[in-house]
Amino acid sequence: MRLSDNFGRKINYLRLSVTGRCNMRCIYCMPADGIDKLGHAEILSYEQFLLIAKAAVSLGIEKIRVTGGEPLVRTGIISFLQQLAKVSGLQQLVLTTNGVLLPEMAQALKDAGVQRLNISLDSLQPAIFAQLTRRDLLAKVLAGIAAAEKVGIPYKINMVVMRGLNDNEILDFARLTQEHDCTVRFIEYMPTLKDKNWRSLVVSSPEVLQRLNDHYSLHPVDRGALAGPAEEFAIDGAQGRIGLIAPLSGHFCQDCNRIRITSSGAVRTCLFSNHGFDLKPLLIPGNMDTVASELRRLVSDKPACHTLNSHTSEYSPFSMAQIGG
Ligand code: 5AD
Ligand code: SF4
Repeated sequence: MRLSDNFGRKINYLRLSVTGRCNMRCIYCMPADGIDKLGHAEILSYEQFLLIAKAAVSLGIEKIRVTGGEPLVRTGIISFLQQLAKVSGLQQLVLTTNGVLLPEMAQALKDAGVQRLNISLDSLQPAIFAQLTRRDLLAKVLAGIAAAEKVGIPYKINMVVMRGLNDNEILDFARLTQEHDCTVRFIEYMPTLKDKNWRSLVVSSPEVLQRLNDHYSLHPVDRGALAGPAEEFAIDGAQGRIGLIAPLSGHFCQDCNRIRITSSGAVRTCLFSNHGFDLKPLLIPGNMDTVASELRRLVSDKPACHTLNSHTSEYSPFSMAQIGG
């Protein structure tokens, strides 16, 4: 059954944020002292997430991404993923991680049925990495990437480009696609925390592309049917790919195919919409059909676009860890 919104966008991609907790404190994501911890009772149980997943797949969701916070810090995550992978009709199960726990968990993720990883990595230089994440864990993340490669889980590296902080590493990140069979995606910095000078940090995707073109010979590549809103390129002769994600300058919203569930069970049909519908009261065993019809109703109301480019933008600041990047 096809799930689509009032603007004709096909919605086939669900993101589940299974925890707001994280073992890092990226400056664009969280304040230094973290975010308010939700009590155990507020966080959805794995059973509740599975009920949502089954309802969503019955509506035509084909791809599920598990996110956080950092999903690998939640106890029991591996057996949850095993169960999620078995949801009949689901075509793709993928996970976003900061990579810190991958050295010990990559094999278990592969065995559980996770088909691909997105690994967040914003600097290859230890001092800059520590400044951006407020943690000295670059070596762990690099070991985590090596572990993903060793066990054979395909992965993408997500780099949020920030002017004056890590934009001098764009070419180094691009080079990774010549050395590894991976996709490196450059993401425009988004003002989720609404910091005053956020515009000065943004390096637009066209500028990133210009800088890449100045050094490498690139060609565009086709994206798969379940791909998100990234434009993809490859350096001639490279095994890997380069993606550009442009929430500010690009056609991000027109191509939006997703809905999100926060760790406390709110449905966010747009990253920048202020209100999330609280699904939790409906999440009782046997209630799948009610959950499905509520999801269908919410999807049809999905906003056309965020308002980040308008001066009257009205969203409240939020931590991506609460919503799931
Ligand atoms: N701007 C852009 N991307 C962000 N992410 C989190 N916060 C932001 C932001 N403010 C994305 C990053 C990170 C993932 C977890 O979410 O890609 O790696
Ligand atoms: Fe953690 Fe990811 Fe947020 Fe960084 S961006 S603090 S790794 S949830």
